[in-house]
Amino acid sequence: MPTAKLVANASPSPIHPDLDSILVSEGEIKKRIRKLGVEIAELYGNEEITIVAVVNGAILFTADLIRQIENPIRLDCIRISSYRNETRSLGKPQVLGHLSLDLANRHVLLIDDILDTGKTLSMLVAVIQKMHPASVRTCVLLDKRGRREVEFEADLVGFQIPDKFVVGYGLDFAERYRNLPCIGVLKSHLQNPPEWA
Ligand code: IMP
Ligand code: MG
Repeated sequence: MPTAKLVANASPSPIHPDLDSILVSEGEIKKRIRKLGVEIAELYGNEEITIVAVVNGAILFTADLIRQIENPIRLDCIRISSYRNETRSLGKPQVLGHLSLDLANRHVLLIDDILDTGKTLSMLVAVIQKMHPASVRTCVLLDKRGRREVEFEADLVGFQIPDKFVVGYGLDFAERYRNLPCIGVLKSHLQNPPEWA
């Protein structure tokens, strides 16, 4: 899978003044998602897939990825209680509300924006396993492998990225920047402003 590289002293981003640099461009995201569609077809054959998207972060990625999947799909969303103070994970993630689809005997593909400490996806896979699916796989757009606190690997990964706090294409800082079309590194002086707490 591609590794997104950080360019030291990258020139100021033309996309948004709050970004230090662009890590993954809109074009690179599109290209990789098309390839992920092919990888999904190879994994699942003609099986129906039940997609479970972790919202809000995975909304944009999921919307684009499912349009690259030709299999029949069912779509549901799951929300996790925030367990982070903006950029760092604090306690334990917890599921908010319920899934509306029955997952028993279904091939479940859990989609999230980014795999960081691994706490969110390892907890969600355990929750879904209890619902007796036929299979559970995970797909993330980004993977910060160097930050893992629990052992976890996703089945499908868009890009490996370094340990930088990134925003855009669904990823937020205090709910901002989700609408940026690319993935960028947020300027460090903006990462903990008291007025956003
Ligand atoms: P984990 O439980 O530590 O693996 O974290 C996964 C969740 O943390 C993701 O779904 C994101 O919401 C959030 N997260 C982790 N790193 C970043 C980042 O660099 N930018 C924005 N959100 C992040
Ligand atoms: Mg998230």
